[in-house]
Amino acid sequence: MSQLHVIDHPMIQHKLTIMRDKRTGSKDFRELLKEIALLMGYEVTRDLPLVDVKIETPICPMVAKKVAGRKLAIVPILRAGMGMVDGLQTLVPVAKVGHIGLYRNEETHNPVVYYCKLPEDIQDRLVIVTDPMLATGGSACDALQMLKEKGCANIRLMCLVGAPEGIARVQREHPDVDIYLAAVDERLNDTAYIVPGLGDAGDRIFGTK
Ligand code: PRP
Ligand code: URA
Repeated sequence: MSQLHVIDHPMIQHKLTIMRDKRTGSKDFRELLKEIALLMGYEVTRDLPLVDVKIETPICPMVAKKVAGRKLAIVPILRAGMGMVDGLQTLVPVAKVGHIGLYRNEETHNPVVYYCKLPEDIQDRLVIVTDPMLATGGSACDALQMLKEKGCANIRLMCLVGAPEGIARVQREHPDVDIYLAAVDERLNDTAYIVPGLGDAGDRIFGTK
């Protein structure tokens, strides 16, 4: 069974509350999402293996730690997942970035794929999939399936707000993928939006509504 990590550090909760507020405009929404992604990134990368390296400080030689050669890829689900890439890249500047384009059909709520471009060696990387909203879980599950079909065996899913329905679906369909969230909300409404949620993340990031 995949593990659910709820990263509810006070600073993350504070920033998320401002994002949820309907009076918060696109500029602040984007900046807060980037900041939370960076903070969540600490937990998502917490167990990366370290190796010993010999260096010399200005005072003396020492054996110190560096992240082992494990390669990372960040894969945002378009559009809204893009809003979490900058924060993660600030933490891991050498990570490569792939893109998976999915949108939800407004009537069926089922995801439709329209784009997929991934690093050539994606199967050798630890992949962090980003998307602020985990609602029905359909988009996340399809993206995870696409990555597995490319040979990825080491994937983590990083979202901001999750509904119990979406969390359960990812855990059922992808029990090997750990989920990282800043908050677990109450439920979905009858148009499959998260309640209380923060509205349409893509529209709020890009100002399209
Ligand atoms: C939103 C969100 C997720 C998806 C979540 O994207 O960013 O990708 O819905 O819903 P689900 O868990 O029910 O699949 P949307 O389809 O609105 O596309 P957008 O990011 O381009 O606005
Ligand atoms: N997509 C969003 O952007 N928000 C939701 O609440 C559900 C899906």
